Amino acid sequence: MIRCDTTTAWAALRGHFEAHGRVFDLREAFIRDTERTQGLTWSAPEIHADLSKNLIDTATLHFLHDLARECGVEQHRDAMFRGQPINVTEGRAVLHTALRAPRGAGPFSDEVHDVLDAMFAYAERVRDTAASGIRHVVNIGIGGSDLGPQMAVVALEPFVHPALTMHFVSNVDGHDLARVLRRLKAEETLFIVASKTFTTQETMANAMAARAWFLAQGMKEADIAKHFVATTTNIKAAAQFGIDTTFGFWDWVGGRYSLWSAIGLPIALAIGAAPFRSLLEGAHAMDRHFAEAPLSCNLPLQLGLLDVWYRNFHGFTSRSVAPYHQGLARFPAYLQQLEMESNGKRVDMAGEPVPFATSPVVWGEPGTNGQHAYFQMLHQGTDVVPVEFIAVRTPSHGLADQHTKLLANCLAQSQALMLGKSAEEAMKESAPTASATLDRAQLAQHRSFPGNRPSTTFVLEALTPRSLGALTALYEHRVFTSGALWGINSFDQWGVELGKALANQLLPRFASGDVQGLDGSTAALLKRLAS
Ligand code: F6P
Repeated sequence: MIRCDTTTAWAALRGHFEAHGRVFDLREAFIRDTERTQGLTWSAPEIHADLSKNLIDTATLHFLHDLARECGVEQHRDAMFRGQPINVTEGRAVLHTALRAPRGAGPFSDEVHDVLDAMFAYAERVRDTAASGIRHVVNIGIGGSDLGPQMAVVALEPFVHPALTMHFVSNVDGHDLARVLRRLKAEETLFIVASKTFTTQETMANAMAARAWFLAQGMKEADIAKHFVATTTNIKAAAQFGIDTTFGFWDWVGGRYSLWSAIGLPIALAIGAAPFRSLLEGAHAMDRHFAEAPLSCNLPLQLGLLDVWYRNFHGFTSRSVAPYHQGLARFPAYLQQLEMESNGKRVDMAGEPVPFATSPVVWGEPGTNGQHAYFQMLHQGTDVVPVEFIAVRTPSHGLADQHTKLLANCLAQSQALMLGKSAEEAMKESAPTASATLDRAQLAQHRSFPGNRPSTTFVLEALTPRSLGALTALYEHRVFTSGALWGINSFDQWGVELGKALANQLLPRFASGDVQGLDGSTAALLKRLAS
């Protein structure tokens, strides 16, 4: 792999940015080029993507494509699909794409499909609620063992078994588990202990507490086998915990890429085998698009390149995701781990500090809620934050008129960000709620919008298992693309280790009260918090 900043394309992009990109004006671009929307719209499985409200044009794309070629992004992508150990710091392959390939079509196909088949058979037995007696499923896991399955179960709510209530417990904060346990009857509950490593402090603490609660409800040790199941790569540790129904996966599945594996068990329980297979098919269709579409037609590649353009040339520090569908309420949280745990890195593959910025801050809320909270800052704040709108054409509810209102708001926000409003325009408008004593010109400054703020709009026909699979895989591959351009390892997460180790060191000090050797701040805080 060749790191982006060492290429001639990078220097050319710098020149293009200084000459053209820095002063690029979207409004002028639309006037200059009446074909702009068609030229900057991509079609990928299940997704229509309008990138024309971004600060790019065909010349910018030309330079960005040169960059992708010179960095060898497509070769790196092919190496991932082939199962080469591209996660160099852990010596592992990165094969979440194999999890959604049809039987016989990808690496480790038999292993993958044997687990899927066993998991689906189990899920169907539990979903026969009259026979199984299960009414509540509690997934105990954190990070990738929580965010992906939770995001998908919330998104696919109309497909969820009507007699099953799904719960997700992640935090070591006992309030999380206690909130759920209050509503449960032990004999109707299935606990999934979801942990790739089966060593994560939060998950182990919650699993132990759930087991203690279960036995305290008058259930027997022998009942644990029916009411606890594990999804893990560490089957031995699950057995030591006393769980004998276990669905496994492999070290070549990263935690944040694991919803397609046994970690997806809550999804399978919630929606059933056939819709889960559609989720996998949607992701696989996006995998084929990423693997096969030529560079200039390849949507994940364009998005990853756009991310580099914004982060490293425009200097934008964050990206906001605004799904205009309540079902995607947990999608931004899921994307935070996907993108920031993958690309929040400061050294390249060779361990050399990189002289450029990497992962943006990714954040967001569903529309229209965000409009009444932080959109003020997006429109009039001092930072430019590219926004990603996700619109879904067909709702899965029958409430008249509401969906049109939602979609009108979605389009209006991207329009407003782009068009803005000059002080002169603001002057001409009446402002009935404004102070009558304030100078009109001064008021107009407050009421004007700079505009030229970029956004992307994705359109899905409907939010289905298949489209959710494609959308999620699209984001996985765009994160891969920007990581590959930056020459970093998107598949490790050493940055989470230090805090974990220090927490383990501090833990006994809460009991002993010993603050010797601690910095002054931590010592004082520990004294205050330890009872
Ligand atoms: O702490 C980070 C992390 O390792 C994530 O990458 C992972 O998704 C999460 O913890 C949970 O890990 P596990 O599934 O092993 O419990």
